[in-house]
Amino acid sequence: MTRFDNHRVVITGAGAGIGRLMAEKLAARGAEVIVTARRIAAAREVVECIRNAGGNAHAYTLDVSKIATIARFRDKLHEERGPISMLINNAGVVFGGEFEQVDLQRHLDTFKVNSEGLMACTHAFMDDLIAAPRAHLVNIASASAFIGLPYGSTYAASKWAVVGFSESLRLEMLERGLKQVKVTTVCPSYIATGMFKGVKTPLFSPMLTPNRVADSILNGVAKGEAFVIEPPMARSVELLKGVLPRKLWDQVARRTGVSTSMYSWKGKDKG
Ligand SMILES: NC(=O)c1ccc[n+]([C@@H]2O[C@H](COP(=O)([O-])OP(=O)(O)OC[C@H]3O[C@@H](n4cnc5c(N)ncnc54)[C@H](OP(=O)(O)O)[C@@H]3O)[C@@H](O)[C@H]2O)c1
Repeated sequence: MTRFDNHRVVITGAGAGIGRLMAEKLAARGAEVIVTARRIAAAREVVECIRNAGGNAHAYTLDVSKIATIARFRDKLHEERGPISMLINNAGVVFGGEFEQVDLQRHLDTFKVNSEGLMACTHAFMDDLIAAPRAHLVNIASASAFIGLPYGSTYAASKWAVVGFSESLRLEMLERGLKQVKVTTVCPSYIATGMFKGVKTPLFSPMLTPNRVADSILNGVAKGEAFVIEPPMARSVELLKGVLPRKLWDQVARRTGVSTSMYSWKGKDKG
């Protein structure tokens, strides 16, 4: 199993879900983990767990939707710990429902957190990554970045933006001769963290366990893979979309339950 000694890693939204799991697993594999969360209590709890298990971690508050605070967080981190060599942009939100029935502010917040916050964090830490001997940028997108997601249109759109951004940056690193900066885009289907509570999972795409996804991400990172897609079956979506006539693809998406999966979404807030 690849170790991550000598890596100082910032993870956004690491107080819960796969962010927390990645923090624990990276620390167990030798990394110094900077656990960031909106609520400091959540970050501290994760750090305590990691330290109890013998790992090295530190808690910081970071709300990625407060764009102006991100560079200040970076400066504070530099002062207290030093530069980083890995950034995992994991923080994310979703608001499902019929498009016009969901408050506009919620749609805009989705972009603020999932796309703008991710880009602002990357911008703040890019110099660190470029200066490190071996660096990694990991952007958590979604399998919904390959397909339309009815009742989750702005979530899908925010993740399409992440894929376009992440893939462009990966190629830019190669063009600029910065091969040591690896960029991995992560596209999982539904994961049982509560974020998509209530959804009806599509055929061939069972609810993934957070543990499986976190392991798969870290294995992909260790191998320097451009994409981590879970379940592997989801890789066929791009191919099918490319070769099938649009009307036939629409039918496939409908009959496999992809297009209707979000209809019953409740999410964390709705019990
Ligand atoms: N669950 C899925 O089915 C699924 C599928 C594909 C992709 N993803 C993506 O995977 C990532 C992790 O999601 P998850 O499944 O682990 O769900 P989760 O348990 O809800 O984790 C999301 C994390 O993001 C944090 N967050 C939300 N808004 C934030 C903000 N403004 N600033 C900083 N942190 C913020 C949350 O903090 P609070 O606890 O304070 O809200 C939480 O820790 C997300 O990017 C999500 O879009 C999830």
